[in-house]
Amino acid sequence: MMNRLFSWLSDRLKLPPILHHLLDEAIPGGASWIYIFGSVTLFLFLLQATTGTFLALYYAPTPDHAYESVKFIQEEVPFGGFVRGLHHWGASAMMAAIGLHMLQVFLYGAYKPPREPMWIVGVFLLILTLTFGFTGYLLPWDQKAYWATQVGINLVGSVPWIGGTLARILRGGAELGALTLSRFFAIHTLFLPWLIMFLIAGHLFILRRVGPAGPWDKARAKRISEPFYPKQVFMDAVAMGAVFLALVVLVNLFPAHLGDPADPTDTTFRPVPEWYYLFYYQLLKYSEGPWEPVVTFVLPVLFFAILFAIPFLGRKRERSPARRPIAIGAGALFLVFVFTLLGLAMKETAALKKTDPAVERGRAIYAKLACAGCHRIHGQGAQVGPDLSFVGDARDRDWLIAHFKDPQALVPGSIMPPTRLPEPELEDLTRYMLSLKKG
Ligand code: HEC
Repeated sequence: MMNRLFSWLSDRLKLPPILHHLLDEAIPGGASWIYIFGSVTLFLFLLQATTGTFLALYYAPTPDHAYESVKFIQEEVPFGGFVRGLHHWGASAMMAAIGLHMLQVFLYGAYKPPREPMWIVGVFLLILTLTFGFTGYLLPWDQKAYWATQVGINLVGSVPWIGGTLARILRGGAELGALTLSRFFAIHTLFLPWLIMFLIAGHLFILRRVGPAGPWDKARAKRISEPFYPKQVFMDAVAMGAVFLALVVLVNLFPAHLGDPADPTDTTFRPVPEWYYLFYYQLLKYSEGPWEPVVTFVLPVLFFAILFAIPFLGRKRERSPARRPIAIGAGALFLVFVFTLLGLAMKETAALKKTDPAVERGRAIYAKLACAGCHRIHGQGAQVGPDLSFVGDARDRDWLIAHFKDPQALVPGSIMPPTRLPEPELEDLTRYMLSLKKG
């Protein structure tokens, strides 16, 4: 029956030459598990597109309803939590798959001529995926979403010359609000999907025109050749199935989180970005002061400039890693750098979660007394008084308490008003101040 239907269709649509073209593409060196990451990335993109489409059935992109609609999806809609969980973990999986895919291409020198256009389109795909992550993060409109986006947009704002304009365009005004949310929603669900589909088509088109790179060993590539179907198709399918199963397990063990609703007045909330931005976030922590523009602007521009330039650096035909010591060494150094920062950041966030209740009470007092009207902590608050992000490194308990009671006594001419609090609350506030440390 299926066979009859297929041959009937195939007759009319003249499918055989297309199938032949799609499936019989020769893979130099033969099929291999090392080539699965591109297909897995494509699969994850399709999963994001599908789950995202279903999420859009219920999601409402306005500050009044966004949070409630996500809560409704998570708790009331049949399979809503599952679909949202897949979308949440799928995004992380896609970043990981892209990382592994790039690593394989880099190691194999598969970006070298004639595949430079493919690499360049690939870097654009990476940028688009990161933008998907950034814009999607705001949509649940919980505390983390709101404040992490605030930090992200402030970063864009710190770019020299055009930063302010860019930040205003992203926000849709001077404040993060309703316009920002609908803007991010439109970018996330309309602009980016169109763009990325176009670029994915380009990426695959180039692949079919230049052919897969195969192993770096030219003799081996010449000796063995296998068609894409059946072996590579089988490997790709197994990998996709395994990734999907892993996601289902993850979603059941760790459902996607939804925090408290966004509160634009609660400047004490300390957002933590998604893990794939975490290493960069850590780097930012080390770069207060004059170094800040280097990290917020120079390094990212340099990073992507180098990424785009990679196919044009070094010897054009040499693909064996053993004979590309500079490229492989630089790549390894970069990975060590990123993973060290990631490790440090994870250690700090783990420590942050274990904050003692006194610090939490102190944080609440800080908010109640509107200290942020004069002080800035990690980018939040005004800059009338000193930045308190790392005040715990600079002052000890006794100094802080004495200073709270009578600022002018310690800092003559200080405009900071004395803090009149019962002794235990003063202690809590001080504990919070002392918790603000670098490492
Ligand atoms: C009217 C603005 C203003 C308000 C409100 C204010 N401060 Fe200050 N604060 C300052 C100024 C100016 C300084 C610098 C002079 C000084 O050290 O007294 C300062 C200094 C400090 C310092 C010392 C920083 C250092 O290392 O030198 C701490 C700690 C501090 N403020 C905490 C707080 C807390 C906590 C609150 C809320 C209870 C608060 N401030 C409210 C203006 C303010």
